[in-house]
Amino acid sequence: MRRGLWAALCTTMLIACSDEDASTTPDAGSTDDPAPVSPDAGTVPPEPTRDAAAPTMDASAEDAGTMANDAQVDAEQPPVEPALPDTLAETGLYAPGSTEELAPGVLAYEPAYALWSDAADKKRWLQLPEGTQIDTSDMDYWSFPVGTKSWKEFSKDGKRLETRLLWKTELGWFRVAYIWNEAGTTATIARDGAENVLGTAHDVPEQGDCGACHEGVTDRLLGVGAVQLSGSRPGLTLGQLIADGRLSDPPVADFALPDELAWNALGYLHANCGTCHNPRGEAFDRLDMDLWLRTDQLAAVGDTESYKTSVGVALTDTEGPENRIEPGSPDDSGMIFRMSMRGSEESMPPLGSEQADDDGITLISDWIDTL
Ligand code: HEC
Ligand code: HEC
Repeated sequence: MRRGLWAALCTTMLIACSDEDASTTPDAGSTDDPAPVSPDAGTVPPEPTRDAAAPTMDASAEDAGTMANDAQVDAEQPPVEPALPDTLAETGLYAPGSTEELAPGVLAYEPAYALWSDAADKKRWLQLPEGTQIDTSDMDYWSFPVGTKSWKEFSKDGKRLETRLLWKTELGWFRVAYIWNEAGTTATIARDGAENVLGTAHDVPEQGDCGACHEGVTDRLLGVGAVQLSGSRPGLTLGQLIADGRLSDPPVADFALPDELAWNALGYLHANCGTCHNPRGEAFDRLDMDLWLRTDQLAAVGDTESYKTSVGVALTDTEGPENRIEPGSPDDSGMIFRMSMRGSEESMPPLGSEQADDDGITLISDWIDTL
């Protein structure tokens, strides 16, 4: 089981923790009963105390965040209030009665570097509570005000498949996917995820799997940050957030590396890999590769942790090429080797897609060729 899932389950109020995966404890994840924990306690297996007591991996970082109690991480259902709505409409994404028109205050944005999701089309939205600011005192790991909501919709060939929600409440982050019906008129909560939805090959992750990536940063949002919102694109950008006074410590300008190819390559790695491969991410206790870009290390590509922990650095414990990146030689680089693999635990990323991202591999290879 992933540590992220433990963190999620165990920090949800001080409920006891199960030794089972969420998928094997349906009562912990699928009941619609919003009642407090005690009535359901009998359905949750008695728990080993080790996990209940274990701190989350980034507990100290969390403590430094904006939330007031220990239950600030990833609230899961049940038994907390407010309960997660059963339908997407009730989450407040759309204007009442609509499945197209956004509710007031919901803003579309595009991250500069998308996560590869087997060529699914994606749309994303953010809603900050009125009058609040994002805490950007740490420009590399933003903290969001309670009440922040974000959504990400996945579609293929114009057909909506699922819309994911991340919602920061007083109790912590709620996270779940809603799956659309065939007619595209309503989307219903899917705590356990689903495979091959609406006749496509697209899989929806279960609630417990969101954390594998989203717990890799201080405050959960991965595409809403200084690197990802730099540059000009449609929708909400870093520049707009600065202009609107939405950042507690606004930067003076967008961020980028001087070299465009290097910026695109390291931006791709930041989005697709840095969520696990950074000091707060789940891979870091096994290996020190750090692919999360820091805004104060962008004067030259050689200053970045991404470069310093991969170019000419030996692989830790895996088969294949000698170095994570072999300068000038993509075919001898562990990174390309692992990105090209699919269907094995060694595929990188290990979840979230079934097909290799050929464009991504080409981009990283082109950059390695220049080294
Ligand atoms: C394989 C890693 C991974 C998994 C698993 C994952 N996400 Fe994400 N998610 C990302 C990345 C990376 C981004 C930002 C880039 C993008 O949007 O393409 C993101 C973006 C989002 C966003 C937009 C806000 C933001 O963080 O930028 C939402 C909402 C979201 N994910 C919800 C979920 C939910 C809910 C689940 C589980 C059902 C989930 N995600 C599972 C990696 C993941
Ligand atoms: C969901 C988390 C996650 C994501 C996202 C992820 N990785 Fe990993 N990665 C791991 C874990 C855990 C390991 C250690 C176990 C292993 O080697 O398989 C690892 C190991 C590696 C290694 C071996 C390094 C060494 O020193 O042995 C490479 C190379 C690698 N990842 C590259 C990538 C690349 C490139 C991406 C993005 C395209 C990526 N990873 C995305 C979790 C992740």
